[in-house]
Amino acid sequence: MSSTWFITGASRGLGRELTEQALARGDLVAATLRHPEQLDDLAEVAGDHLWVRQLDVTDTMQMSRVVREAFTDHKRIDVVVSNAGFGVFGAAEDLTNDQVEQMIATNLTAAIQLTRLVVPYLRRQGSGRLMQLSSMGGHMAFPAFSLYHATKWGIEGFYEALAQEVEPFGIHTTLVEPGMIRTSFYEAATRVPVSEPYQAGPADRRPIPLEQMPGSQTKVAAAMIEAALSENPPRRLLLGSDAYRLVTNALNERLSTFERQKAVAFSTDIDQDEDVS
Ligand SMILES: NC(=O)c1ccc[n+]([C@@H]2O[C@H](COP(=O)([O-])OP(=O)(O)OC[C@H]3O[C@@H](n4cnc5c(N)ncnc54)[C@H](OP(=O)(O)O)[C@@H]3O)[C@@H](O)[C@H]2O)c1
Repeated sequence: MSSTWFITGASRGLGRELTEQALARGDLVAATLRHPEQLDDLAEVAGDHLWVRQLDVTDTMQMSRVVREAFTDHKRIDVVVSNAGFGVFGAAEDLTNDQVEQMIATNLTAAIQLTRLVVPYLRRQGSGRLMQLSSMGGHMAFPAFSLYHATKWGIEGFYEALAQEVEPFGIHTTLVEPGMIRTSFYEAATRVPVSEPYQAGPADRRPIPLEQMPGSQTKVAAAMIEAALSENPPRRLLLGSDAYRLVTNALNERLSTFERQKAVAFSTDIDQDEDVS
């Protein structure tokens, strides 16, 4: 049976790959992107299987209109993929206010607002799958990438709570947590010049060449489709050997830190006879 998808950031990278693979399965795709003409080549062959609308995810009013139209024009939407995002590399101190605001608006606020806009429709449908692009960087962190991590750790927290709220309505959520994938992400990312105090320090990192990144765009998209359409989609989908290694290391390290602090943690509980007035 064919499914219907709603995808943000469908112009290139994972968003476009997902769009192409879903269409190849015979599914319907409501694809959104900043410059719709970037899908003209696909539209020519996909016919009415591809519905395209202009959407800059930082424009909440536009997003609200596009979501309404998408759910009006399709009988139902089975999977919503919140994919649009970008990266900024630079020491936290070197970032501009505008970079901070744009990154949070795109990777975090827009993802939260899209979720809030689609949940009422999925709830009324009685089912649906939400796929949110997070990252291995939603569990661990590299220097010179603080802002990106802030957005991915942020959306992880939002989804951790939301998943529990919407599951009673038949809505499944999946945080997709890939490692480094060979997409246009690194070419599109902003690189902030390293100021003198940070030069030769941890924030002065050389970009990893694309050919050394393990993640395959094709395989990541295929794994997302398989998970989204499975009977019981996982709440988290960790993809890539680098993601597996780095995330499990980070979590083990955090857990052992907390275990060492167990006595201190318990020591701050209130005494039964403590005066709280
Ligand atoms: N590549 C990786 O290594 C990697 C790893 C983990 C997670 N991710 C996550 O995966 C998602 C997709 O990334 P990708 O690797 O496919 O990157 P990509 O090739 O650079 O594609 C990013 C997409 O996001 C869109 N976008 C950016 N800002 C937007 C905005 N304001 N409104 C609408 N669309 C916007 C871009 O559209 P334009 O063409 O208009 O710029 C493009 O379609 C992101 O959330 C990213 O954080 C990527």
